[in-house]
Amino acid sequence: METIDFPRPKLHLFVCINDRTGMPSNQTPSCGPRIKAEDVKKVKEWIRAQGLTSQVYCTKAQCLGFCNAEGSVAVLYPKCRFVKGIQNAEDLKKLIAEELENI
Ligand code: FES
Repeated sequence: METIDFPRPKLHLFVCINDRTGMPSNQTPSCGPRIKAEDVKKVKEWIRAQGLTSQVYCTKAQCLGFCNAEGSVAVLYPKCRFVKGIQNAEDLKKLIAEELENI
């Protein structure tokens, strides 16, 4: 193994897109119906348009362990701040802007 040297981002957002809608035997709510890979793609395009590519990373994730019926879940590093209730890509953009103001 080898450490990869690169400029560290200020913020790294992991967004759960896990979708259990195709699993009728599992009734646990999942983030996937609300937030999809396409939403994360939109957020990445927005990050690029804002000139934040080297400061903010956004990564799709599977279940982050806080499944709930109110909305999707994301976690922001370096604070390890878990957020639930995310409904769409606009919420993710607001979350990034809010977190950047408080770093
Ligand atoms: S399915 Fe998203 S946190 Fe579990």
